[in-house]
Amino acid sequence: MADSLTIRRPDDWHVHLRDGAMLEGVVEHTARQFGRAIVMPNLSPPVTTTAAAQAYRARIMAALPPGTAFEPLMTAYLTDHTDPADLVRGKAEGVLTAAKLYPANATTNSAHGVSDIARLDPVFAAMEEARLVLCIHGEVTDPEIDVFDREAVFIARHLERVVRSFPGLKIVLEHLTTGEGVAFVESAGSNVAATITPQHLHLNRNAMLVGGIRPHAYCLPVAKREKHRLALRKAATSGSPKFFLGTDSAPHAKHDKESSCGCAGIFNAPFALESYLQVFEDEGALDRFEGFASLHGPAFYGLPVNEGLVTLVPVDHVVPDTIDAAGTSVVPFHAGETLRWRLASG
Ligand code: DOR
Ligand code: ZN
Repeated sequence: MADSLTIRRPDDWHVHLRDGAMLEGVVEHTARQFGRAIVMPNLSPPVTTTAAAQAYRARIMAALPPGTAFEPLMTAYLTDHTDPADLVRGKAEGVLTAAKLYPANATTNSAHGVSDIARLDPVFAAMEEARLVLCIHGEVTDPEIDVFDREAVFIARHLERVVRSFPGLKIVLEHLTTGEGVAFVESAGSNVAATITPQHLHLNRNAMLVGGIRPHAYCLPVAKREKHRLALRKAATSGSPKFFLGTDSAPHAKHDKESSCGCAGIFNAPFALESYLQVFEDEGALDRFEGFASLHGPAFYGLPVNEGLVTLVPVDHVVPDTIDAAGTSVVPFHAGETLRWRLASG
């Protein structure tokens, strides 16, 4: 049995904290583990401006349990009408850390996303100049393209051009799901990185579809074939600074997922570190966990590493079937399973 593991306090470089009662119910799970988090702007309506991001940040701070040291890093949702000057101002004023590109209708609350990526070039140019990070949901929405191919096609159709055209733009290809994505990020310059979720390290598409349809394993981008999961595990545990932790924790009410048209999203925040650490242990890479969880992200974003430490201890525990989020029942990732590590309190 391994000893306990102490690392710098990690950050979550991609999370959905929601708003209102759900925000009140879920934020503590993220704040307990992470020093900072890149907060997704796909609220309804989306957070499209610096002013909206500032107001959302205040709501997050107000929802934190008293005395919690947690810093939400805000993002603006790009649309066909984004004003580059507003983004530049948001970065200069310390409100915005990144802007998020959702191709229109790629996922939850993305109807206001970008319909023609090429027309965003003036926005990308302003972001490159202002050193504002571009976070990308890298899937095409073309109905002709099979859902399992949408990430690879996005890279070939759009990302290669954007990376070529804006060599100084920092780009995070979020929630990577394919071997093609890993290869692209590895071959690009140091301005291109990727986040990897715990679910894409644990689940392949069989886990979602064999023996019955499992709505709690459904998220977007959807889990792919086993060979892709293995490529992601190799990348995450490789020690490469291009890959870092981003949970994509995306809570939906249990009844909204267990439905004839279930929502995409996996609520992994309650045991995110434990889930990732199990993968690193299985891959014989415990010594590389701190880099992935706590060091590579800050280095990419040009931010200091967190001051504090967290300790994980090897203790078996069973993940609850549901978690109450301010009155809404949400099913956590790994519900009913035994995890082998536990974050020590304090
Ligand atoms: O599965 C997902 N859920 N993928 C996303 O990109 C959005 C997220 C959500 O907001 O629920
Ligand atoms: Zn997301």
